[in-house]
Amino acid sequence: MYIIGQEEINALARVIESRKLFKINDGAREVENFEKEIKAFMKTDYALLMTSGFAAIQSALIGLGIGPGDEVIVPGYTYIATAIAVTAVGAIPVICEVDETLTIDAEDMEKKVSKATKAVIPVHIQGFPSDMDKICAVAKKHGFAVVEDACQSVGGEYKGRKLGAIGDAGTYSFNYFKVITSGEGGALFTNNRQLYERALIFHDSSAIAFFGSQLDGVNEPQFCGTEYRVSEFHGAILREQLKRLDPIIAGLRSSRRRLIEAIAHKMEIAPSHDTCGDCGTTVALRFGSEKEARAFSARFGGGTLPIDTGKHVYTNWTPVMEKRGALHPLMDPFKMEANKNLNHNYTRDMCPKTLDLLSRTVYIGTAPDWSDETVENLAKRIIG
Ligand SMILES: Cc1ncc(COP(=O)(O)O)c(C=O)c1O
Repeated sequence: MYIIGQEEINALARVIESRKLFKINDGAREVENFEKEIKAFMKTDYALLMTSGFAAIQSALIGLGIGPGDEVIVPGYTYIATAIAVTAVGAIPVICEVDETLTIDAEDMEKKVSKATKAVIPVHIQGFPSDMDKICAVAKKHGFAVVEDACQSVGGEYKGRKLGAIGDAGTYSFNYFKVITSGEGGALFTNNRQLYERALIFHDSSAIAFFGSQLDGVNEPQFCGTEYRVSEFHGAILREQLKRLDPIIAGLRSSRRRLIEAIAHKMEIAPSHDTCGDCGTTVALRFGSEKEARAFSARFGGGTLPIDTGKHVYTNWTPVMEKRGALHPLMDPFKMEANKNLNHNYTRDMCPKTLDLLSRTVYIGTAPDWSDETVENLAKRIIG
């Protein structure tokens, strides 16, 4: 969370005073309006607000018809939720390397493609865009889908297009740690009508049939899904947060640019697939070795090595690495007959390039409101 204040308080008060807290109450319009507003921001045909980024990724995979017998390629550096969204639909996450930008390595991704590959989930980690041109070209060549995990890159862009609006589907998270927030929350974006209808049914599968006119014009048959419906509070707070998004991103990019200008003559900055488009939340410093990265961090008295970020590193995805895909054995994708011959031979050293890059990078987080003096002082401390 970067900025929150009176406008959000007023929006929540508006919902309480209306007594319309349920999104399908007659006259309740906060969620509906947020979906319209964010759709216009993303320039996609459809948007669905739901309870989390995980819910949005899972709904996208369901919408694509992915399940047992299918593989979905994910980078070895992402929050565990990306991989677990794959097991949640009964499919197998195939783990691949990241490139110098710490986003999915398009070449290694292509090496991991098999007959069972149904999708890839490029993750725009820390606001850094994945190599979308290459990823989409490989996906098109082999005939599988692209589901963007833009949970950490709300408001970011790649070559002028919003991250999350480029692939067959894209997803945002609005949890507390994200660029804009409603405490918890997520959104799914797509231009694919069938995917949208299936995700609509899946994310709200009880209420959708009984309240309002949500199923008007929907052709997909109803099926049993989940309950990832949000309240009007989510819609109301996010409508205010969305108004703040462009200024937050502009501030973050300005802080990042000024800091890089001040230190680039002395420090190696990790590359980006779109320096102008990335969110600006992070300056990624690259070192020759882990020892050098740790020595820098100790001297500087801060910064984070991505290798230390727990469940963002595949080696720490315990339930995935140990292949416990569900509590009930018959629901466990790793035990399913349909998945018997798929690629789930996980080992700790299967992505050595990823582990190497993560251990010799140091992240410095930015803030949207840095003064020139703040940047100057920080630059001095970094250069040492
Ligand atoms: C890259 C990434 N993907 C997915 C998620 C899941 O989002 P949520 O916490 O909203 O379910 C997160 C959350 O931190 C994330 O960072």
